[in-house]
Amino acid sequence: MKNGYTLKNRRILLGVTGSIAAFKVAAWVSTMVQEGGLVSVMMTNSATRFVSSLTFAALTSDTVYSDMFGEGQGEAMAHIHLPRAADVLLIAPATAHTLARLAHGMADDLLSTAVLASSVPVIICPAMNSQMLENPATQRNMTMLKELGHHVVEPGSGMLACGEKGSGRLPEWDEVREELLAVFSEKDLTGQKVLISAGPTREPIDPARYLSNRSSGKMGYALARVARRRGAQVTLVSGPVRLAPPPGVRLINVLTAREMQEAVSAHAASSSIIIKAAAVADFRPKNSSSEKIKKSESGLSLELTVNPDILAGLGRDRKKHQILVGFAAESNNHKAEGLRKLKDKNVDLMVVNDILGEKTGFDVETNQVTLISREHIEQLPLMSKEETAGGILDKVASLLQ
Ligand code: CTP
Repeated sequence: MKNGYTLKNRRILLGVTGSIAAFKVAAWVSTMVQEGGLVSVMMTNSATRFVSSLTFAALTSDTVYSDMFGEGQGEAMAHIHLPRAADVLLIAPATAHTLARLAHGMADDLLSTAVLASSVPVIICPAMNSQMLENPATQRNMTMLKELGHHVVEPGSGMLACGEKGSGRLPEWDEVREELLAVFSEKDLTGQKVLISAGPTREPIDPARYLSNRSSGKMGYALARVARRRGAQVTLVSGPVRLAPPPGVRLINVLTAREMQEAVSAHAASSSIIIKAAAVADFRPKNSSSEKIKKSESGLSLELTVNPDILAGLGRDRKKHQILVGFAAESNNHKAEGLRKLKDKNVDLMVVNDILGEKTGFDVETNQVTLISREHIEQLPLMSKEETAGGILDKVASLLQ
């Protein structure tokens, strides 16, 4: 159940309803299938007016179901068999009419009947004109669907197919994939407030130059995604990175170590778990120039001053029952350095990795870490950064107890 890292072998029953956004969902199907997801598709009659059932049949190499009483649709009683053979139901795009029908438990076609006959989680992705979305009737239906325990993904805003700008756009795939993965994740961090720092900091020398490091932020962002999937409320304080904001996570962007310290301090007291995955620059230029330094005037030396050690500060002021996790990216003496930092910074867990390893260094998709707590030293296998995040959070969950 903890394996919410990929859609591989997950049986996803997709219900497509009559919105022009159905063409975007065809691309989602292709992505899910490429990831190893086992996708079956039901379409309402209106949906087939926007996108041919042949499109989905070709993408899934399977029959597309659209008629309750249709012949040649593979099985009789499809409305019962289809949801039973699924791990999750995904309704996308969901029109205003679909929301109304599902909210009221109607069962007048294959899709609505299958939802009613289903006992697996249902994820609903509305898409419509903004006025239809904002209409109190639609809003009430969305509330009712949430009260029924369904996951309603908030629509996005921007340019709509009707030519107007506003809310009602089909949610982005990244967000929907997170909802799917959350369904497959154990909710052992529900109620926890997790504060994560990620990425490098950037210390300005002048308007054109800065001191920084090679951290990509991938490990911290993976932690944020996985913690959120496991039910935590996540705040992510991020240095400058080239990564998409993780859906459902409060993101605070900072540049320098001092900005990071300010943001982390503002949220530390209310957090039950703090994970400092950021690669904070230890030093900054003593004087940063507001104008570009010229070759002729600069000389060859740059005077540096020490940045605050954010983690050590948190270790000094730690609250009772708070779990504090530090990272140590090392090139040698990994365990000794990890143990030293565990004690010096007064933290519960140090996550140590080898920055010289080909698959554990900067900006790669995998990591292999050693978890050093006061009682234990444990090496995790080489895994994706999300799986590594899962291993770290397993350890954190055990420390919480
Ligand atoms: N850290 C921090 N503030 C700093 C430096 C580091 O909060 N100014 C945190 C990092 O986010 C990480 C941990 O401390 O969680 C260890 O960082 P690392 O750079 O490995 O340790 P340093 O204490 O800087 O020691 P050194 O650079 O000498 O190895």
